[in-house]
Amino acid sequence: MYKLIRPLFFAFDPEKIHHFVTQGLRYFNRIPGGKKLGHAVFTIENPGLEREVFGLNFKNPVGLAAGFDKNAEMMGEMASLGFGFVEIGTVTPLPQPGNLKPRMFRLKKDQALINRMGFNNLGMDVVAERIKRYRQTSTSNFKPETSYPKPQTPNLLIGGNIGKNKITPNEDAASDYVKCFDRLFDVVDYFVVNVSSPNTPGLRELQEKEPLKILLQTLQQRNHKNGISRPILLKIAPDLSNEQLDDIIEIVQQSGIAGVIATNTTISREGLTSAKNKNETGGLSGKPLTGRSTELIRYLSRKSANAFPIIGVGGIHSAKDALEKLDAGASLIQLYTGFIYEGPGLVKRICKALLKEK
Ligand code: FNR
Repeated sequence: MYKLIRPLFFAFDPEKIHHFVTQGLRYFNRIPGGKKLGHAVFTIENPGLEREVFGLNFKNPVGLAAGFDKNAEMMGEMASLGFGFVEIGTVTPLPQPGNLKPRMFRLKKDQALINRMGFNNLGMDVVAERIKRYRQTSTSNFKPETSYPKPQTPNLLIGGNIGKNKITPNEDAASDYVKCFDRLFDVVDYFVVNVSSPNTPGLRELQEKEPLKILLQTLQQRNHKNGISRPILLKIAPDLSNEQLDDIIEIVQQSGIAGVIATNTTISREGLTSAKNKNETGGLSGKPLTGRSTELIRYLSRKSANAFPIIGVGGIHSAKDALEKLDAGASLIQLYTGFIYEGPGLVKRICKALLKEK
């Protein structure tokens, strides 16, 4: 079904159609019975899909990757489409417009995207209020005062992916992460420290050993409020060398953070066949990233002897791609580009394959 309407979607500018489709979904969900219908068509509820990872209870291991719902507008809609968790952001302390448009490009032959959005977002205050409102109006079991919620029936979990404003120099980056951490602490289930986007000048330098250690230690030291702490994950780039990955393993273990998200988009353009758009600046996502991100998950998981959970993301376009990531050592997975190319049915296909494997 989705494959039939996809050419229509792909006839428009990717950012415009993203906006159009997400607004459409929001209206659909507000029609009486719309939410129920979406739920009936796209979701599978089965205790066999539940996962407990870093102290949280996920109703299924398939999540929406950061960047799709930057401003916390679509949480209910994504729950209806079957996702077990949604990562909001990247959120920065101050609102910022991001880079000039156009800034998102399709490489259809490669089933890929290149984006240089540049953390366009409404800022931490708006996002925190929206998540709070969602918690109040949804059937969420989230209770900020009781630390990690472990409800009987797990609901949609929400991650907060945090970054720094473009105008903040790297020397002051930690203070931006701290501001977002403090502001979102009461409303998210887990945090992601994003130091791996290629679209904010200098950001990836924060993946270097010393600045990263300081940043993660700073956040971990603040990670308790009335006896509550939140899992903190580090999101890394697929372009790191094995030596840099060894450093990451050491830093994750030393700082005591909960785990890693592998991976963000790549700056590599290896193996592309599309002539159109392949020279656009930005991060490449989708099918060309599948192998590299799985390889990186396998390396981290083997080298650390499964010392921490990994969320696997990068080029998951089929149930097989998802199972490979889990086989390589991921505990949970996330989708972005595969969701655009394959449609919402992909979440259910993955869940069905997981149940079949059992
Ligand atoms: C992203 N991604 C992303 N990641 C992140 O941590 N913060 C962000 O703001 C964004 N923004 C963003 C925008 C767009 C348009 C895309 C395509 C991607 C990266 C995303 O979460 C994911 O890590 C990669 O895209 C790899 O997964 P897929 O797309 O190959 O499934």
